[in-house]
Amino acid sequence: TNLSQTSMGAREGFGTTLGVIAATLGSAVGLGNIWKFPYITGENGGAAFILVYLLFACLIGLPVMISEFIMGRRSNAASVGAFKKLAPGTPWFLTGISGVLVAFLIMSYYTSVAGWVFAYIFKSMGGGLLTTDPKVSEQVFNSFITGTWSPLFWQWLVIIVTGAIILAGVKNGIERMTKTLLPILFLLLIICVIRAVTLPGASEGIAFLMKPDFSKITSATILAAMGLAFFKLSVGMGVMTTYGSYIGKNESLFGTAVKVMLADICVSLLAGLAIFPAVFAFGFSPAQGPKLLFMTIPMVFSSMPMGSFFLTIFFILASVAATGAMISLYNVPVAYLTEEVGCSRKVATVIIGLLMALVGSTATLSNNLLANFKVFGLTMFDFYGYITDNIMMPITGLIIALFVAWRMSKYEVADELSNGGSLNNGGFVRFYLVVVRFVAPVAIIVVLLNGLGFIKF
Ligand code: PHE
Repeated sequence: TNLSQTSMGAREGFGTTLGVIAATLGSAVGLGNIWKFPYITGENGGAAFILVYLLFACLIGLPVMISEFIMGRRSNAASVGAFKKLAPGTPWFLTGISGVLVAFLIMSYYTSVAGWVFAYIFKSMGGGLLTTDPKVSEQVFNSFITGTWSPLFWQWLVIIVTGAIILAGVKNGIERMTKTLLPILFLLLIICVIRAVTLPGASEGIAFLMKPDFSKITSATILAAMGLAFFKLSVGMGVMTTYGSYIGKNESLFGTAVKVMLADICVSLLAGLAIFPAVFAFGFSPAQGPKLLFMTIPMVFSSMPMGSFFLTIFFILASVAATGAMISLYNVPVAYLTEEVGCSRKVATVIIGLLMALVGSTATLSNNLLANFKVFGLTMFDFYGYITDNIMMPITGLIIALFVAWRMSKYEVADELSNGGSLNNGGFVRFYLVVVRFVAPVAIIVVLLNGLGFIKF
């Protein structure tokens, strides 16, 4: 029988194959594609960095995603519960708890950026963003984020909206929204790309994305590429364990993961192609940091007919994508409190929301009141991003891979990957086992130690 159907009462399942993929994509596609991917790529020198990132997505992100799927579908539980069911009475479940912390910390800065996106919907409606003057574009953004109350207001609003969606239930929210709106985002990005690559001076930006310059690759760059691979696919914290528990017994875990990864990469590359030609055409530096999206995209749209209209739609769709990702993040600590601690869903959602508003405010205030408050030389905003992407997700992801590879039995793993033998994919199962037992763990450890300066090549 179908596990996710028999347990419908307690845990909602997703109806169709498309439903599962749309839901998983709803978590993967978000600010990571349109905001983080471009700015990290810009800071790390372009094409060569993208190649390293793609390598890690396939070599590390994908196997970890499949591992989380296996754990989730096998146990029919969210992250902490999955460890407890699959390895009762052992400390493995602490990995799940570390995932809960990661999800919480990501939300602390993610909601801040999502707040900027929400606010930009209204700014673009009012026409205040319509400019082809780089100085104006930059100034509009700076004066917004250096305000005290306005960015906090938007961040808290984001938390309230996401919390309300969580309380309204999983299935209706995510599945429907992503199925209808992601394709529209995709189309809009294509329009954007067409405009961007035809701007005078665009070719330098295209070259930046297409012509790898390997001298730009350092150990820090490689670590950032690995961090991005975890962040992008929402792996290394147990989000995908939860989604795995929704996947029907007849769906292929590998097929689902590959489709999600490819679609996600497409969206990121399109965002890169929309942004970098504009960066160079308008004379910005690609290493602008987190502001990159907010300075360039308005200018791309300002250079086309009905710019204000399309710009508004762009930020609406970006908010939807961000909200899909945030629902999956927010849900990790909420699922922990409801399933492991025994809180009601309402209480859990409110407690987590309040904590996120509190901790998240320190990220938002990094642009003004706390600008000079540094931890390891980073503002709180950068600090949350750095430790989650580059340290916590790799470590949690490593342990998840080791758990599935070495603690679960080979037969259990093969059973999940082949849907009880019906997929007849023994060769692939053996390949996956080699990757998840040796290749991915060694790669994660080496990149981590090298990136943090413990070993040097
Ligand atoms: N993958 C999401 C994005 O790119 C972010 C995310 C990370 C969501 C981790 C869930 C878990 O925006």
